[in-house]
Amino acid sequence: MITINNLTKKIDNNLILNNINLKIETGETKVIIGRSGVGKSVLLKHIVGIMKPDSGNIVINDKDITLLPEKELNKVRMEIGLVFQGGALFDSMNVEENVAFVLNEFMKLSRKVVKEKVADALAMVGLQGIEKMMPSQLSGGMRKRVSLARVLCMEPEIILYDEPTTGVDPITADAINNLIVELHDKLKVTSIVVTHDMSSAYKVADSIAMIYHGRVIAEGKPEDIKKTNHPVVKQFISGDARGPITENENLIFGHVR
Ligand SMILES: Nc1ncnc2c1ncn2[C@@H]1O[C@H](COP(=O)(O)OP(=O)(O)OP(=O)(O)O)[C@@H](O)[C@H]1O
Ligand SMILES: [Mg+2]
Repeated sequence: MITINNLTKKIDNNLILNNINLKIETGETKVIIGRSGVGKSVLLKHIVGIMKPDSGNIVINDKDITLLPEKELNKVRMEIGLVFQGGALFDSMNVEENVAFVLNEFMKLSRKVVKEKVADALAMVGLQGIEKMMPSQLSGGMRKRVSLARVLCMEPEIILYDEPTTGVDPITADAINNLIVELHDKLKVTSIVVTHDMSSAYKVADSIAMIYHGRVIAEGKPEDIKKTNHPVVKQFISGDARGPITENENLIFGHVR
């Protein structure tokens, strides 16, 4: 359903994505792991066409989305929900208006139907009844869930989650994991989940890919990734500060690629 071919992107002269190749099958949940700053969010932004690559392409349902004009791209975007890392809510709109934004903007639905869809989506993320609250009144985890509700009410074929469990308490994190699994099992949604949270990765993934220095350095089923002998992957999944990934790398990141 989604094929990423030789995707390469430089930002400010730093090579962020260096020839990324990934295939996400219909109905699959692909988890992408990798350290902070490695380009995971940049990759998701390419998949929804917010960013354009320097070379390479992304084919979604047989369409190269890197070539589509804005109007066509908007149609594809209706099928792809991106749950932004920070929520990306409009501060001047209440929760209801935020969740209903795309419905109101692009679909001709009655007010009553929109209200129902918003209420259902909020209930799915465990936030029923908060329609009138403003984003400034919400915690980080709540913002993230409102952003997820905004995506759910679109009923997209594809959902991209940018760190859905980072910064939320363990119980909420587990509820979000369960929701991702449920959308996969019941609605056959195709998903890409970007995360550092390995327990979440193991729980939701059909397959896991790790990005390091702009490249996919490992890919496989969760049980294979758990057993890996690749020193960099091994260190990442065990969260060990000692290993081939050094503290110093943070400082030189961006220049070594
Ligand atoms: N709009 C931008 N302008 C300049 N640099 C950017 C921009 N977006 C991303 N970058 C740079 O690209 C690199 C990758 O950023 P990205 O946000 O994709 O990281 P990430 O893997 O999602 O990290 P995290 O896990 O912390 O969210 C970083 O070095 C970042 O500074
Ligand atoms: Mg990110």
